[in-house]
Amino acid sequence: MIQVELAKATSFLESGKIDAAYKKALSAFEKVKNKTGAGAEWLGWRRILAEPNDAELEQIDTLAGRFRDEVDVFIVCGIGGSYLGAEALIKALKPSFDIADGPEIIFAGNNLNGSYLRDLLTYLEQPKPDGESKKVAVNAISKSGTTLETALSFRVLRKWMHERFPEEASGRIICTTSAAGGALNALADKHGYARFVIPGNVGGRFSVLTPVGLLPAAVAGIDIRAMFYEAVAKYEELEEDPESVLKYAAVRYALGEAGKTIDLITSFETELTGLSRWLQQLLGESEGKEGRGIFPVVGSYSTDLHSIGQFVQQGRRSMMETFIAVKKGKESIYVSTTADNEDGLNYLEGKSFHNINRGALEATRQAHFEGGTPCITIELEEKNAHHLGEFIYFFELFTAVYCYMLDVNPFNQPGVENYKKGMYKLLGKE
Ligand code: PA5
Repeated sequence: MIQVELAKATSFLESGKIDAAYKKALSAFEKVKNKTGAGAEWLGWRRILAEPNDAELEQIDTLAGRFRDEVDVFIVCGIGGSYLGAEALIKALKPSFDIADGPEIIFAGNNLNGSYLRDLLTYLEQPKPDGESKKVAVNAISKSGTTLETALSFRVLRKWMHERFPEEASGRIICTTSAAGGALNALADKHGYARFVIPGNVGGRFSVLTPVGLLPAAVAGIDIRAMFYEAVAKYEELEEDPESVLKYAAVRYALGEAGKTIDLITSFETELTGLSRWLQQLLGESEGKEGRGIFPVVGSYSTDLHSIGQFVQQGRRSMMETFIAVKKGKESIYVSTTADNEDGLNYLEGKSFHNINRGALEATRQAHFEGGTPCITIELEEKNAHHLGEFIYFFELFTAVYCYMLDVNPFNQPGVENYKKGMYKLLGKE
């Protein structure tokens, strides 16, 4: 069960402000539920949980199982909402280093960096230690099918696939895109690539529980059913009792009103940095409109305590902090003792790294709180597929509610078009 700890934030606020914000949160939640808010046609991320498509989960699992057996490298080619969710899940749940548990997952299509792509092709060309060539699959993910970063990288990867594996390429390319239209559908039709549909009423950053996130996660060996059905359970629970979301939304809103303009999302669990990045996009692209919102940035502790920790402690007091914590650690490294205590660390003897990390979290949160930074903690019971499913829906609902409190449409991103217009003009697109 996800825990939301607000005490180290509420003490910065007058209770009247929190109460007023809570009323706003309640009416925002009603807008989500009754589909009366802006962008209500984009609430499909709730629909997929209200009416789970078990046949699709089966289809994803089957295809993923085939790729787990057949290929050495699985490339996820997408950007923004078409990639951050998959990266978050895989980074959180796969071992940090490749220890031969299914294909290696590589992300591409999320930048316009030619040297990255060149290095990737060089890597793909390198034979395996046994001298065999690497078997590769590519999953292109783009709802519009027109996003330049993804489309351009996919062009390069597709060409390489067809030249390198003329027989197998078509069976090892999968397009995840809208039901109709766009270049990916045209290419899938022409070459017989497998295809998964992103529902029209689910926007990119709300799409991790569709084939966008589920196929790469399943290829990585993640139990997508456990994750999906835990999200379903959270959906059902929050429909009945949204208190945890509403209280949290009220406090974050009141902090924004009180001048907090930055939300530093951070975790002491290195593997959750991808989840923080997913959340950064979910919040940032949803709330940052019409001059409103709190700017979400990602930190990774304790690494970043040695870079931005000083600022958080004593810099301009415009920041709030959101800690993503994990209650039960799984790792089993304990500190051993040495007879001469040469490195002076025997005081930690017998402690697990998880406990030491928890100690660092508690001390940091207390210090930042005392230094004037409101701290909110979101705690997952454990780092596993179940609890990530719960986390995902919790934050999708939170984001929608919070944006309605701000009076902005959570589901569009009109500002993202501005740079694209300029870029396409410079690049000579008709
Ligand atoms: O959340 C969003 O809608 C965006 O981040 C999109 O996911 C991103 O721009 C990629 O778009 P597409 O899937 O159309 O390539």
